Amino acid sequence: MQISVFGCGYLGAVHAACMAHLGHEVVGIDVLPEQVALLGQGRAPFHEPGLPELLESSLATGRLSFSIDAASAASATVHFICVGTPQKKNEYAADLRYVRAAVTGLLPFLKPGDVVVGKSTVPVGTAEELAELVHEAQPEAELIWNPEFLREGFAVEDTLRPDRFVYGVADTDQGRAAAAVLDEVYARALGDGTPKIETDLATAQLVKVAANSFLATKISFINAMAELCEATGADVTQLADAIGHDARIGRRFLNAGLGFGGGCLPKDIRAFMARAGELGVDQALSFLREVDSINMRRRVRMVDLAREVCGGSIVGRKIAVLGAAFKPDSDDVRDSPALSVAAQMQLQGAYVTVSDPQAIDNAAKKWPDLVFAASVEDAVADAEVVLVATEWPEYVGLDPTALRSKVREPNVLDGRNCLDPVAWRAAGWTYRALGRR
Ligand code: UGA
Repeated sequence: MQISVFGCGYLGAVHAACMAHLGHEVVGIDVLPEQVALLGQGRAPFHEPGLPELLESSLATGRLSFSIDAASAASATVHFICVGTPQKKNEYAADLRYVRAAVTGLLPFLKPGDVVVGKSTVPVGTAEELAELVHEAQPEAELIWNPEFLREGFAVEDTLRPDRFVYGVADTDQGRAAAAVLDEVYARALGDGTPKIETDLATAQLVKVAANSFLATKISFINAMAELCEATGADVTQLADAIGHDARIGRRFLNAGLGFGGGCLPKDIRAFMARAGELGVDQALSFLREVDSINMRRRVRMVDLAREVCGGSIVGRKIAVLGAAFKPDSDDVRDSPALSVAAQMQLQGAYVTVSDPQAIDNAAKKWPDLVFAASVEDAVADAEVVLVATEWPEYVGLDPTALRSKVREPNVLDGRNCLDPVAWRAAGWTYRALGRR
């Protein structure tokens, strides 16, 4: 298939490279010339395992190219919309200007039989509005809503082998014909038995925000239990293990700690609440406000824990923060709990040094006043508290005995419940964590 992909960020760059890997002819289109230039040289503009290799091999076949010109989409039949929908400044709602600009930019090039496939996360109702634009410009082109569920850090794997496909399709002959075209694009995964749910546009848009809201709720649920554990002397990791054995609950996404961040869960639950308000059903999602509050309280509690460990004040105390990315295997620092805690501690008078295996450049752009260290050794030199804020394997695997000799005071805060308290205590550390004795 001839494919265009609008937006070459975390979603679009991976999608374009994966579609070319599957044998399609793909052009990735983005408004940022630097992004397009990097991708065209086979270099990923962000850290995503497997992406550089995939870019390189797909570019070498000649099936993948990148462009800043929407006209490059003219020869494609299937057009994926993969641009971002960030939170609006000082509002809960999603900013749809990039989605609208991408679709508007594509309209002049649509031909009969073309299929526009929306993948961006949008408030329900957006796809219907975009479908009208598509039909006005080219009555014989069709829009499908096909939300994306990839996780950063596993984006290539999730795109090539998704756990399900969701198509929001108009119940018309043209809609069904468009779905058949999308089936051809995804022929390999569908042939491997990946489930497909074909539904209406509204359901397809809701599936995505419902999924992310559920995941956010699951994380905040266990973090609320962590608050109970802290008040009672119980252990949240054992609690999670125990309830997680119930297959109806499941252990995944029950890791208590600093909570969720990133470019998706926080802004998606807020945009969902904003949309529910517009639809007059805000009560249905008022629990998400609590989910958000629980999540934010964890960051404050971590600063309090640092204060406790320092004997009542962090002013002038040296704190090493290991981790800046919102999660491991990513250099994404959008709404990163790690950086949020680091910044709060610095603002409250601590001397904070942050390290991260991949995210220092992005973190330094966002928080230029923080001090960064390239290595763990440099970050912890002379530290009175070490906070593990992102569970990178290199931090989980730290040798507490070796690290003990590098710090001034052996206090460790486990922000992700990812360290072994027994081993750290045995090596002489004071170990503290959220929701644990
Ligand atoms: C999330 C969803 O998991 C994807 O399915 C979705 O496609 C994506 O958003 C999106 O909307 O594009 P992602 O933002 O990459 O993916 O990250 P997650 O793996 O979901 O982690 C989100 C945050 O929750 C991270 O900060 C992570 O540290 C935190 N988390 C995760 C916990 O605090 N506890 C857990 O048990 C799991």
